Amino acid sequence: EKGGYDYFMLKEIAEQPKAVADTLLGRIDGSGSLTLDEVRIPPRVLREIDKVVIVACGTAFHAGMIAKYAIEHWTRLPCEVELASEFRYRDPILDAQTLVIAISQSGETMDTLMALRHAREQGSKVLAICNTNGSTIPRESDAVLYTHAGPEVAVASTKAFLTQLVACYLVALYLGQVRGTKWGDEIRAVIRDLSSIAGAVEQVLGTMEPVRELARSLASKDTVLFLGRHVGYPVALEGALKLKELAYMHAEGFAAGELKHGPIALIEEDLPVVVVVPSARGRSVLYDKIVSNIQEIRARGARTIVIAEEGDEAVVPYADHLIRIPVTPTLLQPLVATVPLQVFACELATARGNEVDQPRNLAKSVTVE
Ligand code: F6R
Repeated sequence: EKGGYDYFMLKEIAEQPKAVADTLLGRIDGSGSLTLDEVRIPPRVLREIDKVVIVACGTAFHAGMIAKYAIEHWTRLPCEVELASEFRYRDPILDAQTLVIAISQSGETMDTLMALRHAREQGSKVLAICNTNGSTIPRESDAVLYTHAGPEVAVASTKAFLTQLVACYLVALYLGQVRGTKWGDEIRAVIRDLSSIAGAVEQVLGTMEPVRELARSLASKDTVLFLGRHVGYPVALEGALKLKELAYMHAEGFAAGELKHGPIALIEEDLPVVVVVPSARGRSVLYDKIVSNIQEIRARGARTIVIAEEGDEAVVPYADHLIRIPVTPTLLQPLVATVPLQVFACELATARGNEVDQPRNLAKSVTVE
């Protein structure tokens, strides 16, 4: 049932193009509009929403962090994202104008369930993004947008994460469509790009051999750091989480801008640092800043592992290892940038002799708080 793969995780990584395509299927019509009829919150209610709050745990929380960028940019609605386990203990400000989005692969995560119950008690509408039909979180929500990743068996989440991102983009775009905000050429272009993103994920999967080789060469390291900016920051956090849970290594993700506020003190000779570089198109401020971050850490001896777009030549002189990803609009880039980090963690775990599908101390669904 592993379909010829040694581990479920490898199978599930390979299934990502299909999972992404299946999650988009039937949700974008021929004219490039979204048809999310299954979201049974009436457009009238969605037009009155004045704030979005996302709650989730672990990998799903990282999807939520990325969703915040998309929702705020495309809808201009303020959006907060919070770890479900912290949410209800701080008396969050919620009312009938708040849309709460609960993201959960299993639909059974107790922290997320308790957060959504708290939100509904305050009169907020809750939309679940979930991969498991009929599970508790969608049953207790006002509406649900299912991800179509298919069953995820490996404890470490991979294809569910990519489909959570797709669902988040769909919700963000749908909110924009219903509310009429920023609806125009930019959004149409994003919908077009999203429609072809499964092919980009496939392309990345076809180029992973050097990443595996690199991972094996780092098997005896103690620490790997991950840096990113903007949506690359949650991608960095996700890369670090995968490495912790699978390779049992010290791994940390940082917002690259925070480097000089502390973490740069960790940089020492030959320390592997993975850097997620945003789109080089237009040479945005964001891009220039991260290139100077790479220079800063390399000058201090870091071994730089740079994930950058095809055609981005400016990073080449500063990359000890270069991992190429297809050119993708910045907000959608996590869909392609995360894939090498999954492969990296999986291969490192194998090289260290760890059980990839069942990491120690972890359970697939966490049904206690
Ligand atoms: C990491 C991982 C966990 C889950 C988290 C939430 O690879 O799998 O961090 O993402 O426990 O689980 P769900 O999405 O089922 O609520």
